[in-house]
Amino acid sequence: MIPPMPAILLTVNGLPNEPDEISVLWTFVLNGNPAQIGVSAEYAHRALKLIEIHSEFVLNVPVASMVGPFDKVDMNSSKVGDKFALSGLTRGKATRVNAPTIEESPIHLECRVFNRIELPPGRVVFFADVIATNVLAGACDIHGRLIVPAVPFFGMTAGSGEFYTVGQRLGQIGQSVGRTDIRY
Ligand SMILES: Cc1cc2nc3c(=O)[nH]c(=O)nc-3n(C[C@H](O)[C@H](O)[C@H](O)COP(=O)(O)O)c2cc1C
Repeated sequence: MIPPMPAILLTVNGLPNEPDEISVLWTFVLNGNPAQIGVSAEYAHRALKLIEIHSEFVLNVPVASMVGPFDKVDMNSSKVGDKFALSGLTRGKATRVNAPTIEESPIHLECRVFNRIELPPGRVVFFADVIATNVLAGACDIHGRLIVPAVPFFGMTAGSGEFYTVGQRLGQIGQSVGRTDIRY
């Protein structure tokens, strides 16, 4: 019963002679300043082991045109094959961490793990610093704010698994006290 929220593609290096990994993991904001983010990985998924080993990953924010490849990533295990090949997504390279990126994503958050907790019955939650953020030209303004209408973002309903685009702008933080300068 949670309305659409970002469903983000995580990329992490593989092991020698094994493909790099793309996985959809639930993500959540921990802090705005410094930028810190959390991801939750199931024991059953390859991404968990790879995050443990490498400690660095990239969160690639998908857009509507990527819904097809997004679902292929979700429905195919990397035990079957290279998810970049299976999905047709293009592998890039992060600028500040040692991890692959997805070039079709307009936003890359380059992350480094600083803590983890076990989450019974079957998950590990990782806490990570956002070391670098790379945004496609046109997706944010000169003040570093996202131009949401310019980019066809989408989210997924938690509990029913449906994809929806983001709706219309309703307002901003601080509007009740006449402020436009607040940024979390
Ligand atoms: C919106 C969404 C959220 C997901 N969240 C998680 C998650 O938090 N942890 C997880 O391990 N898998 C999650 N999955 C499923 C994995 O992405 C998917 O099963 C994985 O790519 C399988 O790859 P593997 O078998 O190679 O590990 C999620 C899928 C979707 C669509």
